[in-house]
Amino acid sequence: MSSRSIRIGLCGFGVVGQGVFDHLNKKRKALGALLGADMSVTRIAVREKGKKRDVAVDEGIITSDPISIATDPEIDIVCELMGGTNTAREVTVAALKAGKIVVTANKALLCDHGKELLSIAQQYGGHVLFEASVAGGIPVIKAIREGLVINDFSSIYGILNGTCNYILTRMANEGLSYQEILVEAKELGYAEADESLDVDGIDAAHKAVVLAYLAHGKWVDFKNVRLQGIKEVSQEDILFAKDNGYAVKLIAVVNRERGGKALHVSVLPTLVERRSSLGSVDGVFNAVSIHGDVVGETVYIGPGAGRHATASAVISDIVDAAKLLIFGGPEGRFPFLDSAPKNGGGIDIARPDEIHSRYYVRLVVMDQPGVMAEIASILASHKVSLASVTQKEVPEKAERASLIITTHLTTEEAILRAVADLEGLTILEEKPFCMPIGTIS
Ligand code: HSE
Repeated sequence: MSSRSIRIGLCGFGVVGQGVFDHLNKKRKALGALLGADMSVTRIAVREKGKKRDVAVDEGIITSDPISIATDPEIDIVCELMGGTNTAREVTVAALKAGKIVVTANKALLCDHGKELLSIAQQYGGHVLFEASVAGGIPVIKAIREGLVINDFSSIYGILNGTCNYILTRMANEGLSYQEILVEAKELGYAEADESLDVDGIDAAHKAVVLAYLAHGKWVDFKNVRLQGIKEVSQEDILFAKDNGYAVKLIAVVNRERGGKALHVSVLPTLVERRSSLGSVDGVFNAVSIHGDVVGETVYIGPGAGRHATASAVISDIVDAAKLLIFGGPEGRFPFLDSAPKNGGGIDIARPDEIHSRYYVRLVVMDQPGVMAEIASILASHKVSLASVTQKEVPEKAERASLIITTHLTTEEAILRAVADLEGLTILEEKPFCMPIGTIS
């Protein structure tokens, strides 16, 4: 083993923290040989001391005070793996002010405070590395920052939440409801402690904001991300998808509109062609399709959640951090380590009338004469043109019928207005469900 020691402090010791600890220990010798330095976890902060854990740890290195790790002069690299945005921010700020390198998997923290944290890092000569924050084990942040550095990105499409993709896949394969599958996703360590972050699309939106920053240099305000989760996706939607060569996926979009001057960031259930690059990505896997002006389309697929996938990404950052400590400043190897390569100044948020798509609309209506005419007239009044209308034969004396409409290309503004008008109809028995039909290649 080499003479130099790199000391790591883990703040947070849940699913991911324990995975990082375990894999770092198992590969300690190999990493030592690679870096010419010994890397070890010397302190761990936990929420609850004395709790039963999956990995054996010397209790002497455990504390319940993460700030004491962030400010410990003996610690070189602080891994923030606690989740949440309050204590996580305090720990990150304290570590950066102490000039340390912070590795985090916390997408919510980056989305809410990324601008501030990267600026503090620059001011104090530290760094914030966050490969594990987006798409679990896929090294997509390195891909955008390093491998694709010459590109301008017209569009990025992503399946960014492993829990939702796992749920949607099993809904399609086994006909189960999302609640039944969510319990298993939690047991497997995919879901967030607060699972509404997953199923309401919030986690994927945090990740989309991080991707938008990396690709375009702009921190998009979370409230500017149009967002819908998967709770309202029904078996009917999934069956329609199957019958028509699609799959329902929760898709994050980071697109340039208005000739590149505006940015559209959204996370929505979306019908995607099953044979497209994202349409066949199932289970806990994530996928990101990136269109660069120089390279064309590149697609990245891999496990998006869980102990091992996330630990793999966190450890890649720990190794980068160790290289910075051993070999010096970022200038040589990481041209854009603490900032995005693109200058986001002057990019607006795209308006709904600038966002174009085809749409799927499911309506549950009263089964009576004139219903179709009323619906068609509302869509026509918003210049939304029908591409197909499907109604399964309804038994005599049934009171409700389910209608599925697909539209030709229209704007987000037109479809949202049309759906709002449809919601006002007395013939409607349930809130309409609407999702885009993606044009992912
Ligand atoms: N809950 C997240 C997911 C974990 O399911 O994708 C990885 O960020």
